[in-house]
Amino acid sequence: MERTLILVKPDGVQRGLMGEIIARFERRGLKLIGMKFMQMSQELAEEHYGVHKERPFYGALVSYITSGPIVAMVWEGNDAVAAARGTIGATKPSAAAPGSIRGDFGMEIGRNLVHGSDSPENGIKEASIFFNDDELVDWNRATEAWIVE
Ligand code: RTP
Ligand code: MG
Repeated sequence: MERTLILVKPDGVQRGLMGEIIARFERRGLKLIGMKFMQMSQELAEEHYGVHKERPFYGALVSYITSGPIVAMVWEGNDAVAAARGTIGATKPSAAAPGSIRGDFGMEIGRNLVHGSDSPENGIKEASIFFNDDELVDWNRATEAWIVE
């Protein structure tokens, strides 16, 4: 069972799109196991985006992600990482498919609304950066058999 860390970035919160974005993962059939509304610190942003440290957009990216509150979530499911990235859409919103979150609500790469882990390994790792074990909930979903064969 994979896990993916999903963030509603500050633009998604400020534009009133939290519910819309969360609903898309929920309707898709992913299972929510953790969620918090929070402000990312500089330290957390640098840890989360450390892989991009040498990129020219790194400074702008850290400023963007710390510019206001975010929603951090962990969603679980078979193929959760790829499924969530499909729901999110291509990194550059102007090229993202209609029907995806970025394709429906975004215009620019620096305001692309959502983060999703890019591999199962990073899903586990990123979830553990944002959540303690006791903040992740083990629960039975009543509709499980209608979503998972
Ligand atoms: P994310 O990590 O946020 O889910 O996005 P992603 O995998 O689709 O894209 P990634 O390559 O990991 O880039 C992380 C975030 O950095 C910003 N970015 N800006 N100005 C630029 O050329 C540029 N390239 C990337 C975006 O906010 C992207 O989501
Ligand atoms: Mg990424």
